Amino acid sequence: MSEQHSLSSVLACPRCGRGPLTPERAGWMCGACSSGFPVIGDVPWLFPDPRQSLAEWRGRTGLLVQHLASEAAAMRAAAGATDVGATRRRLELTAAAHDDQVTRLRALLAPLGLDLASISEATHDGIGTRLPIEQGLTNYYVNLHRDWAWGAEENAAAIGEIATVLGGGVAGLGKTLVQGAGAGRLAYDLHAAGDSPLTVATDFNPLLLFVARELFAGRAVDLHEFPIAPRTLEQHAALRRLESPGPARAGLELVAADALQPPFADGAFDTVVTPWFIDIIGEPFARVAARINLLLKPGGRWINFGSLAFARAAHADRVGLEEVRELLPRAGFGDPRVREAEIPYMRSPASRHSRREVTVTWLTQKTGAPAELPRARLVPDWLVHADRPVPRTPAFEMQAISSRVHAFLLALINGERSMRDMARVLVEQRLMSSQEAEAQVRIFMTRLHEDSETQ
Ligand SMILES: C[S@@+](CC[C@H](N)C(=O)[O-])C[C@H]1O[C@@H](n2cnc3c(N)ncnc32)[C@H](O)[C@@H]1O
Repeated sequence: MSEQHSLSSVLACPRCGRGPLTPERAGWMCGACSSGFPVIGDVPWLFPDPRQSLAEWRGRTGLLVQHLASEAAAMRAAAGATDVGATRRRLELTAAAHDDQVTRLRALLAPLGLDLASISEATHDGIGTRLPIEQGLTNYYVNLHRDWAWGAEENAAAIGEIATVLGGGVAGLGKTLVQGAGAGRLAYDLHAAGDSPLTVATDFNPLLLFVARELFAGRAVDLHEFPIAPRTLEQHAALRRLESPGPARAGLELVAADALQPPFADGAFDTVVTPWFIDIIGEPFARVAARINLLLKPGGRWINFGSLAFARAAHADRVGLEEVRELLPRAGFGDPRVREAEIPYMRSPASRHSRREVTVTWLTQKTGAPAELPRARLVPDWLVHADRPVPRTPAFEMQAISSRVHAFLLALINGERSMRDMARVLVEQRLMSSQEAEAQVRIFMTRLHEDSETQ
């Protein structure tokens, strides 16, 4: 590939934001601030603080593996305790699949250095860093199977929507960035069907990236699928072969990065594609649009595809299509060409559960600079520098009080006290009035019990 179309032609240092990145023997190096960035599992790991993000993902992987293993043990115990034959068979099958999945994930994610993940689930719970369920490796796990096992109809619909909004085909996209590319199928299909000299698929989740790496190289990966509403007993855990149609042609690259601190030079791309991305990134739409503008050359194109589901954003940021149309010009984009279509979504053949989504696809062209420049993710000084004092903010103060009450109540559980006894202690300690203590203890204990059941 020519220098002009190489990966380094689009990269910039995610730490200082200025320097070009050049490949070195063991990774990438910034020409301005001399920061180094590793390659992990053959994927350039271009986070501003690569060691920190590696530790975070390693921790999440360690927890996932522990969680799967402890689930397998719990299933085996439950299998031993039931006399319902089909239940026992289901539990044995899913327990074996969980154990096998642990082995597969360990092998796939070995480049993260799993032997260094030493924190237990209980410790993570205690210090509140138990991330897998909320922000874990398996958040978009089903996408792997949709992309590379059973999702032909959905994958075809995705590239079909994009081709239609482009006027019939995906040729001429030029240097293309696919943001939040997930397991990578759309990036692979766009690169295969089009003529881009360089398509960069980026995401921050190493599980998705490492699977994409294998599939882009034409190698298969076997992983279990655990459907949420299995159709049959056997389908509670289905070992799937993830396969691509073949190795990708040259120029399809993977980059591990945080989209809010992107390691790409301003104006590096002719096209940016955001599939099912803008409503999960957690930033107001105006800022996401401005960020995308910066990545584009003058006249470059932004193709968005997916849902507009901002229900968890702040009220003013729950934008719909009408607001998108009003906000795009402020972010330096022209009038969009918009398409809406209802398509199948995550229809695993092993599951009774599936969705149809009314997707929005738009194509818009960069006409100028955004009215407001997107800020880098704001990280306070004391979080960047491990030796700075951590301020006791009002929010931290509140958290400390509630944790103390929580710890106090937990310490009262000694196998002998009843809820009434505990309420009496709270009243004696002047933590609550006698009118409310018993009801509050009951609420606390109910939640504790429910949490323990769901875990
Ligand atoms: C809803 S999924 C869509 C995945 C893929 N585009 C698809 O259509 O299947 C959103 C993707 O964005 C990624 N993502 C979320 N926040 C990110 C961030 N700050 N930086 C990079 N990727 C992010 C997730 O890991 C996930 O793969």
